This record gives sequence, C-alpha cells and structure tokens, in this order.
Amino acid sequence: MKCTKCGSDAVMKDGDWLTCLNCGNVMFDTRRPEETAAEISPTKLLEQMEAAAAQEEAPPLRRTRPEKKRKSRRKAKDAADKAEEKNPVKDIVDFMLAGKDASYKDMELKGECMETVTDSTMYNPANGSLLTEAREFNLMFKTTIGATSDENDPNATGWLRPETAQSIFCQYKNILDSSRVKLPFGIAQIGKSFRNEINPRNFTFRSREFEQMEIEYFCRPEDGLRLVDEWLEHRLCFYDEVGVPREHIHILDVPDGERAFYSKKTYDLEYEFPFGIQELEGIAYRTDYDLSCHQKGSGRPLEYFDEETREKFIPHVVEPSAGCDRTILAIICEAYDEEELVDDKGKKDVRTVLRFVPRMAPIKAAIFPLLKKNGEQVRIAREIEKTLQPWMSVFYDETGAVGRRYRRQDEVGTPFCITVDFETLGENDASLKGTVTIRHRDSMKQERVAIEDLLHWLIARIR
Ligand code: GAP
Repeated sequence: MKCTKCGSDAVMKDGDWLTCLNCGNVMFDTRRPEETAAEISPTKLLEQMEAAAAQEEAPPLRRTRPEKKRKSRRKAKDAADKAEEKNPVKDIVDFMLAGKDASYKDMELKGECMETVTDSTMYNPANGSLLTEAREFNLMFKTTIGATSDENDPNATGWLRPETAQSIFCQYKNILDSSRVKLPFGIAQIGKSFRNEINPRNFTFRSREFEQMEIEYFCRPEDGLRLVDEWLEHRLCFYDEVGVPREHIHILDVPDGERAFYSKKTYDLEYEFPFGIQELEGIAYRTDYDLSCHQKGSGRPLEYFDEETREKFIPHVVEPSAGCDRTILAIICEAYDEEELVDDKGKKDVRTVLRFVPRMAPIKAAIFPLLKKNGEQVRIAREIEKTLQPWMSVFYDETGAVGRRYRRQDEVGTPFCITVDFETLGENDASLKGTVTIRHRDSMKQERVAIEDLLHWLIARIR
C-alpha cells in the first residue's frame, strides 16, 4: 500500500495501522487480511534488524582455508546475498539509512516496553503502538466545482451528499406549493449517497458510494411520536413483503444520549447478517430541526399554513431511512440455500438455490423448448417469450439438458420455469395440446398450464 500523503511505498504495518517511513503519515489499513499476510510487524522488523547488526559485527572469515571449503562457503554466501536481496526488511532499513553515514549497528534498537503505562493517551491500548495527535476526520467527500476549479478557492468547494434527506428538505417548499398537499404528507427519494467510510467491507454492507432510500414524512408537532411508531410497523411489513421476516429483525429503541442530537425518538432496525447483527434502517423523529435550519440558512420562509386552524408553523418530520444495498444484501442472505438432494438411485447432490419471494426475483420466468432442434417447440417458446416480456423480466434458454437449465435458474432465483415439450404439440396426449410444463423452483414440482392462461397465472404469483 502506498502512503496517501506522499505516495511512498515505504510503509510499516502495526496492527490495523500503517506508518509512512518517509513522511510519518499514519493511515488506517483498509486492505483484507489475506493481502497483508506476508507483511512484517514492527517486532519482527526489530528482530531482523538486530540479526542484521549482529551479522555485521561477526569476525571476518579466515583467509586461509582449503579450496573445497572455500567453494562451499562462497556458495553459501552467494545464497545468503541472494536471500538478502529479496528481503523487504533490508529494503526498508536501507531506505531509512539512505544518505546517512551509518550502518545497521549504528541504529538505536529500542526493546519492547515492559513497564505499565497509565494515564496516557499516547498509546493505542489495543496493541501499544504510538498514537499521533488527534486529527479531524472528515466524514464527507470534498470536491471542486467548475471548469477551472481551484482547490484553494472556497467558492469552488462542493461536498458530495452523505444522505438523500437534505435534497428532500430543499424541495419541500416547491412540492408544498405546487402539489397543494396537506399535512401529513411524505416525500420519498432514492439515490446515491457518499461517505468517507474508514472501513468499507462485508460485501456491499458498508461502502463509500451507496444507494439510499429515505422518506421525510411531514406532520404536525403533536403527531410526531405517534407516527414514528406507525412507521416502524409499516417498515416491518415492507421487509416481510420483500422476504426478510420480522422475526429476523431486531428493533432497537435507541436510548437517550445515543440518538442523533436532533432526534426525539429513533428506532434502529437491525438484521442478523452472517457477519453479525447490523443496522438495516433507522426510523427517526427529527422534529423541526432540518426545516428550521434551512429556513435560517436560506432566509426563505418554510412554514406551513393550516387553513382550518389558521396556524402557521414549521412541520415536524419522521424519517424512515434505509440503505438499498443493505436491503438487497439481507434479501440475498435470507434467500440463499444449499439443499441436499438424493436422486432415484440414492445418489446425493447439493442444489444451490436463491429462494427469493417471486416479487423480488430478478427473473420471473424462464422459457425453454425441450429440444432446440424441434422447430415447432422453439417457435412456441419464442412466442411465449414475446407475450410475457412486456409484463415481466423473462429469460429464454435452449442450451444443454433441461435439468441443467433448471439448476441454472435455481442459482439465480427464477421462481418458474416454463417448458414447451412434446405434450405442448399434442404428440403423446391430445388433451394436453397447447399446455406447457411449469416447474416450481422451491418444491421442484411440475404442473401443466394452458398457454392462453400463462400470463394471468404468472401475474397472480409475482405481484
Ligand atoms: N438521513 C439519516 C441517515 O442517513 P444513517 O443511519 O446514517 O441515517 C441510513 O443512514 C441508512 O443508510 C443506514 O441504516 C444504512 O442502511 C444505510 N447506510 C448508511 N451508511 C452506509 C454505507 N456506508 N454503505 C451502505 N449503506 C449505508
């Protein structure tokens, strides 16, 4: 990893932190453990430096020795030189000594600290490493705006939004005046948010650029606390409907002192991800904090006029705020299954299947002709594809055995597979002419449905 300040390669790892040996910059190590496994800790570095110093102090080899021994010693020395060439510790130490009239043994080697340090903020209590002075950590992404933007021009400074919420507050007045809505009403937005996360990991759980979905629900002040409870119930129903059952969601009533300063009540909805119980969504009663700030900052009146009571006031807000990526991750965690199967001959097999609720499946139905060489089966299958396409996402597949095609669709979570077979053509049983086989992803059961009923049959099951 390169230094984020000076770009130097000479960085030293200590626990989760990296120190640049060139400029002293201390950085958090964001790489995965397997990427850093080969690196050397400061303790190891010190040991190797001590060994190198001891080698320099060793007495020179005797000059007179038999030819045979000399050869083998030279061989050993060549091997040692080669090993030393590749030694990253040597590179670091050489770098530290560059331009200085000193060698390994002149370097002061500090031993491990054996004393207990108390009342000190100088060391990291987790690993004893030296800490820098406290520095401000910027949670937002700064950028410069304009064709000739200059980093030092304060007028060119812009910030990438860390939440969609503030865009909604900026649009509140416009929507209020143009839509002539009455309290309570909500404005929803879904879009990109950006955060300078120090520790982005666990798949898409925490990233620096993510998709957020928020609702600002504007209400009368006296309704705020009641509505935050109502929204909690609505949101639990939502997760249930998209395939995350409420039994897997933990509701945390965030206590006083732990809520954001603007919030009078907050619920955190947490999900049991495979890597731990983590936040999925926050539902916060934000009072009139945001609109009051925007009114003050813009100098524009943002009050709501209630025609019935003739009152003028700043509406309060209840905000359900969720991450789209986190929701999808929770849905995938819920849906993923490895099912053990035993075939007719007693052979064991594992079927990988994503058991999405049909409304969330990316592909709703797959359409196969049983044999790709059968022109009539292909024609009918293509017709079915054309009929269904305007209503749902479908996938046509004619390659490989039909069993393999089923498994491929199981892996991407397609709930229904439609096969046009010989019965469709009326070849084995005339009463089945014009019907197709529908194979269900979860039960793997099959049934026959008339082609003319297919669209309604599917729509009833994917809504
Ligand atoms: N407007 C309030 C707000 O933004 P938040 O708790 O900071 O509140 C709301 O964020 C939701 O956005 C979180 O519950 C989470 O689902 C999602 N979220 C926040 N930071 C995220 C990140 N770095 N990556 C992915 N999702 C994130």
